[in-house]
Amino acid sequence: MTLPPSLLWDGDRLKLLDQRRLPHEVSFLTLRQWRDVAEAIATMAVRGAPAIGVAAAWGVVLAAQAGEDLDVAVSVLKSSRPTAVNLAWALERMRRSPAAQDPVDPQELAGVAAALQEDDRARTQTLVDHGVGLLAPGSRVLHHCHTGAIATAGVGTALGVIAAGHARGMVNHAWLDETRPRLQGAALSAWELGCLGVPCTVIVDSASGLLMRRQEVDAVLVGCDRVAANGDVANKVGTYNLALVARAHGIPFYVCAPGSSIDLTTPDGDAITIEERPEDEITQHRGQRLAAPGATAWNPAFDITPAHLVSALITEFGVIRAPYRDALQLLPLDRQL
Ligand code: MRU
Repeated sequence: MTLPPSLLWDGDRLKLLDQRRLPHEVSFLTLRQWRDVAEAIATMAVRGAPAIGVAAAWGVVLAAQAGEDLDVAVSVLKSSRPTAVNLAWALERMRRSPAAQDPVDPQELAGVAAALQEDDRARTQTLVDHGVGLLAPGSRVLHHCHTGAIATAGVGTALGVIAAGHARGMVNHAWLDETRPRLQGAALSAWELGCLGVPCTVIVDSASGLLMRRQEVDAVLVGCDRVAANGDVANKVGTYNLALVARAHGIPFYVCAPGSSIDLTTPDGDAITIEERPEDEITQHRGQRLAAPGATAWNPAFDITPAHLVSALITEFGVIRAPYRDALQLLPLDRQL
């Protein structure tokens, strides 16, 4: 089965794949107002760092079409989720484009958003090609969260490497962390790989240690929400634990990072704002209480993996290894859109 796109621009409205309904239902939200785009990002109808950046870009176009204040729209959209830098990256490019200056030209601005969308498609494809080149034939790869096509406007990042790697004989099997508490791995990664015919098995997040001890994993591949100037990586909570277990077993830990996720203005991981989400994502499941009455929960959506645990960063510019601070400075990030 072919995968649906994460989003579609339809002249004067944004059609957004509602990821909350997957794997049960493929349905699209039709958004006509920028505030609805901010809401869709905050409530994770659209998620995955590159996809939220592109969705927000279209949100700016909706604001321009309605003649609304672009600074307000950009600021509210930017605060809809704080950790993935792709959001700010895309919004800054929209705001500083000539089409967003007085008098605002909504049609021209739609062209800028379309270019950002196409840019994401192209850069994820190149990144995936570099990633596949790192894998040995027949690899068994462990993945955390969801980083597939619908988390981007293209072919995905880490899951895209797994899918392309399988098609090219480099991946035999994918182990998918279910990814508590929102279950992106069980619901989305397993669905995408199922659609693409890639053999995969879902595990609870804490099973990775046993799996590695049994020598069932050749490489770990994850995505990211932000890479700091020193190479520290923010990604879905649990990534840090996985990196530690991989290091303990001598298994390579690769992070897929498009240039739109690399933030040289953030010095290190401690300077990255970690989104904290509602307790009920942990204490409840589909409205049913799981935790003991009165139990409280702490729900950081992301964590920080220190650069020294990262075997390589896979970017569209190529594969980057430590020392990351020097290597990241040399990337042609300024020449991006
Ligand atoms: O909270 P989510 O589901 O938006 O978190 C997503 C992740 O952490 C992904 O790994 C990351 O955004 C990369 S998507 C290519």
